[in-house]
Amino acid sequence: MRGWDAGRVAAAADAALAFSPAASESAREGLPGPLRVVIDSREVAAGDLFVGLGGSRVDGGDYAAAALAAGAWGVIVKPVHAPTLMQAPGLGAVLVHPNPLAALGRLAGAWRTELGARVVGITGSTGKTSTKDILAALLRDRLRTVASPANLNTEIGLPLTILAAPPGTEMLVLEMAMRGPGQIAELAAIARPDVGVIVNVGPVHLQQLGSIENVAAAKAELLVALPSGATAVVPAAEPLLEPYRRSDVNVVTFGPNGDVTLADVHADGEVVIATPTQRIALRPSFSQRHNLENLLAATAAALALGVVPAGELNVTFSALRGERVALAGQVLVINDCYNANPMSMRAALDDLAATAPGRRVAVLGDMLELGHGELALHREIGEYAAAQDVALLITVGPRAVAMGDGALSGDGPATDAPVEVHAAEDPAGAARLLLTLLRDGDTVLVKASRGMRLEVVTDTLVAARAPALAGEVS
Ligand SMILES: Nc1ncnc2c1ncn2[C@@H]1O[C@H](COP(=O)(O)OP(=O)(O)O)[C@@H](O)[C@H]1O
Ligand SMILES: [Mg+2]
Repeated sequence: MRGWDAGRVAAAADAALAFSPAASESAREGLPGPLRVVIDSREVAAGDLFVGLGGSRVDGGDYAAAALAAGAWGVIVKPVHAPTLMQAPGLGAVLVHPNPLAALGRLAGAWRTELGARVVGITGSTGKTSTKDILAALLRDRLRTVASPANLNTEIGLPLTILAAPPGTEMLVLEMAMRGPGQIAELAAIARPDVGVIVNVGPVHLQQLGSIENVAAAKAELLVALPSGATAVVPAAEPLLEPYRRSDVNVVTFGPNGDVTLADVHADGEVVIATPTQRIALRPSFSQRHNLENLLAATAAALALGVVPAGELNVTFSALRGERVALAGQVLVINDCYNANPMSMRAALDDLAATAPGRRVAVLGDMLELGHGELALHREIGEYAAAQDVALLITVGPRAVAMGDGALSGDGPATDAPVEVHAAEDPAGAARLLLTLLRDGDTVLVKASRGMRLEVVTDTLVAARAPALAGEVS
């Protein structure tokens, strides 16, 4: 937005321009507009536009004066803050909007139009960030691509991602979070995607939404928001999304029996993806089943944008999503404690079963926000763990105790040895238990909802068994 003067920024944000410094004062290096948009006054540097958002404990507007003093180009604040800022005018532009968050969204929408980039919106119950990371990797070599950093997927993170895209950006790959009805519609109104990807629909945020049908409806807000002629990428096997199909939108399905399918996975890691018209050979840097599913969704989106992927595909996944840490004594830890829900727990257990060379150990904690059916969902995960031949299960937290019951219920397919189950109250307790029960050669999956902070288990384990160094002599 370097080229936008205060009047233009205000108009784009739908805000009133309460004060604008003389053009000569605001123009830095000949350009009148802000360098960046920030919402944390402590991060303000010269030339930034500070947006004072209302938080639950603090009102960002209270820090607007400090932002201006720190050299901000200007601020967007609620009307209540304007008079104080006007008492000592001259430092920077003062833009006023009754709802600075809405102004942030409007500004991002205007910047998206100015960029003229094409936009992919990605939502789904599980795998959004991973699919976003894969798609960005597929597009990056061909198009100037900006993707949501880490997990910035909310009505704050998404506009900030768009606003951080430099002029000349050709592709915006945006993750869209869903914590309740209306949120995806709101994000889509800002981003106006040309391609909408729904990775999957699963029992996540059931507490807020009540039923899986409501989850599907909330995800489908992305399909509803697409302009005519746009492309929707959806899982082939998802009847819950059927009601939202549109005849004026190109619907591309992925997964078994879909338009974009996994035709082959060779032993050397090469993956062949089939579409109705072509076969695409890729060498991804990952092999987990769920990430291959995400790869199909990402490939479908890339093809819709005219990019035909080929060859090597190196993806650096965001932290705590299935990172593998090799420790002394051939112990391998799968650190997947970024988050958990029934869908991703199953995927992670599949991955454990598919890749563990030795004994399978799972340290699984509570899955939060599942509503009244939560204990049954935990119990099912325990049964699933037993069916995947997990030999040692350490549960963490009050809900996860039901996983232990499920694992011991013995209804799973013929498991010759019964699962050894222990319950820990918290991550520190789980870590202590694990250290006493761990054997050389074990593969340990560590996973729970974010709120459980299960990375303590991985950290403790890593500290106790220093990573195996190349050439180590034991
Ligand atoms: N397609 C998928 N199906 C099921 N589970 C998945 C899928 N993709 C990823 N996961 C699991 O979910 C975890 C979180 O993935 P992430 O991409 O961060 O999802 P989100 O952004 O939707 O929260 C991963 O570490 C993995 O265990
Ligand atoms: Mg995410």
